[in-house]
Amino acid sequence: MIRKGIILAGGLGSRMSPLTKAINKQLLPLYDKPLIFYPLSILMLAGIKDILIIVSKGQLGQFRKILPEKNNLGIKITYKEQPKPAGLPQAFTIGEKFIGKDNVSLILGDNFFYGQSLTNTLKKNLKFKTGAKIFLHPVKNPHDYGVANINTKKKVIRLKEKPKITQSNLAVTGLYFFDNKVIEFSKKLKPSKRGEFEIIDLLNIYRKKNKLKAEFIGRGGAWLDTGNIDDFYNASNFIAAIENRQGLKIACIEEISFRNKWITKKEINQAIKFYGNCDYSKYLKLLIK
Ligand code: TTP
Repeated sequence: MIRKGIILAGGLGSRMSPLTKAINKQLLPLYDKPLIFYPLSILMLAGIKDILIIVSKGQLGQFRKILPEKNNLGIKITYKEQPKPAGLPQAFTIGEKFIGKDNVSLILGDNFFYGQSLTNTLKKNLKFKTGAKIFLHPVKNPHDYGVANINTKKKVIRLKEKPKITQSNLAVTGLYFFDNKVIEFSKKLKPSKRGEFEIIDLLNIYRKKNKLKAEFIGRGGAWLDTGNIDDFYNASNFIAAIENRQGLKIACIEEISFRNKWITKKEINQAIKFYGNCDYSKYLKLLIK
């Protein structure tokens, strides 16, 4: 069972410069909320309440302003700094103490997921005991992503970063479930040619041991990139279109906590006070009316 989650919210955000020179990418507004609310909401929808957020060195203060450890969400937030963005597997060496003897999920701070059956898919998969699990989604341009080939039992048989030639259009998304061996395996990794520890290398350790399985976000679901300016604004427009049509917010973290019964009207009122007079607060007011 997975009860812990890590959000990797460091990185340079170099493709988004100059926007990311003074502000971490995960704190930029994706429509009406900071980007980090979206991956956080995914962990919360899965039922995960114990969350480590890894941020770049020197940026803790920025994050604490919007997501303090003492929050109104009924969840436990812990922070750790990453000295340098040396690759995704560092989540597990930096997070070693946080993970302890448990299994753990990792979500990238700049990944956006949305879809009707997503919560159920996640909850169903949390129960796994050993190995690792990746979540796949079809893309038009697989050459830009980590790509997986799977067999009929959803076992991953091939995994390659940005393949020039591939039969598969299934991209590896930024959501992963791991057993506790992930700490040990991460420590064994060697930096790649670009000088980073690579998530694909880590996943391939599991694959070679026949321990890497895949799950699908599902055709009705969305997985959007927010890594460059155009993708970022496309995701922003997607959220605006859905929220304004339905009058329901995507990734309203207090709403998720409230519906999960982790908090009561009291904490929602505290959140309203914290955010002040804004549309987000008006939405929260409607929620408890
Ligand atoms: P990337 O998109 O690989 O990197 P980045 O966000 O720094 O952007 P750019 O390539 O434009 O410089 O990172 C994916 C996510 O993982 C993103 O949310 C940042 C995070 N990350 C870390 O927290 N630490 C790291 O060492 C790396 C490589 C990424």
